[in-house]
Amino acid sequence: MTQNLLSEALSAISACKTTIAAEEIRIAFLGKKGKLTDALKAMGQASPEKRKTLGAELNQIKQEITDALEAKKSALAEVELNTRLIAEKLDVTLPPRGEYRGKIHPITQVTEEVTAIFADLGFTVETGPDIEDDEHNFSALNIPESHPARQMHDTFYLKGLGARDLGLGMSEENTSTQNLEPRTLLRTHTSTVQIRTMREEKPPFRFIATGSTYRCDSDLTHTPMFHQVEALVIDKNINMGHLKGCISEFLRVFFELDELPTRFRPSFFPFTEPSAEIDIGCSRSKESLKIGAGSDWLEIGGCGMVHPNVLTNCGIDPNEWQGFAFGMGLERLAMLKYGIPDLRTFFDSDIRWLQHYGFDPLNIPNLVVGL
Ligand code: DAH
Repeated sequence: MTQNLLSEALSAISACKTTIAAEEIRIAFLGKKGKLTDALKAMGQASPEKRKTLGAELNQIKQEITDALEAKKSALAEVELNTRLIAEKLDVTLPPRGEYRGKIHPITQVTEEVTAIFADLGFTVETGPDIEDDEHNFSALNIPESHPARQMHDTFYLKGLGARDLGLGMSEENTSTQNLEPRTLLRTHTSTVQIRTMREEKPPFRFIATGSTYRCDSDLTHTPMFHQVEALVIDKNINMGHLKGCISEFLRVFFELDELPTRFRPSFFPFTEPSAEIDIGCSRSKESLKIGAGSDWLEIGGCGMVHPNVLTNCGIDPNEWQGFAFGMGLERLAMLKYGIPDLRTFFDSDIRWLQHYGFDPLNIPNLVVGL
């Protein structure tokens, strides 16, 4: 009787064609009211000697059925997955259907706007990799190993990936920790591009860099990935007046306001000296925030005169060359300019949000027809 049960189960398993059918077989034999469960329950009526051998036999059968089911289920699951992958294949090169007219994401839009403004001021655009190393993200920017700023940055380190494996351009001279394989990380700011560009080219410099940055932080006002714009100007006789003029002009054009008060509040960044935080004027009421002259201030970024150590780290003589740098968050700029209230919605991939806050793909911002 028990052997019948086994062969019945095994032939059902071998004939079964879907994971759902396999689950039904499991219920029919091993479920609460299953055939094998019933047989195990019925054992109570058998004599004590018989119960012993029967029990062992039933448990053996149970194991065999369970194993056969497991093997069948995983084989079927793979087949089902492959069938689904083929059936659900998407050709992303097809043109969009009329009812879904694509929109430009506010981050892309603001990146284009910022680039257009700085291009007009004579800046070029530089880029750097998202995967970086300690050297470019910290050490060369005058943030030594023990500096608390390293903890402040909530860095995502990459496990098991050394900078040399990734060909991140580490020459022995550049590596401050000579004997250690440099650690790789996701860049915590775009200031890394300052180092990369200054080491590759000769001064003078006047460029911006935009892109993704990453910090292990997630709440109402922080997302693990966000975007920054960085600017660097290195030339002869550059002073704090140039910094203030350049940033104020940028902010006025960006926010399309002739009168936009700016304030430079003393602060600290290891890579600049002196350093300042940039505030813009605003007025706040219960429901709204209005950028422009008002009685309040809103922080919009950090800036300063490039620290001589940073120039020296890039082989540039600080007695001959000096300059300024600044960094701002692109989400912040986008939220303030376009009245987007919640940072996290930027990364929800919600088509309705994009329809509402997105931009016309044919209207690429430039300073001639406007931003
Ligand atoms: N890297 C800074 C940050 O992410 C921002 C910053 C401050 C950039 C001052 C600069 C600067 O270039 O000069 O918090």
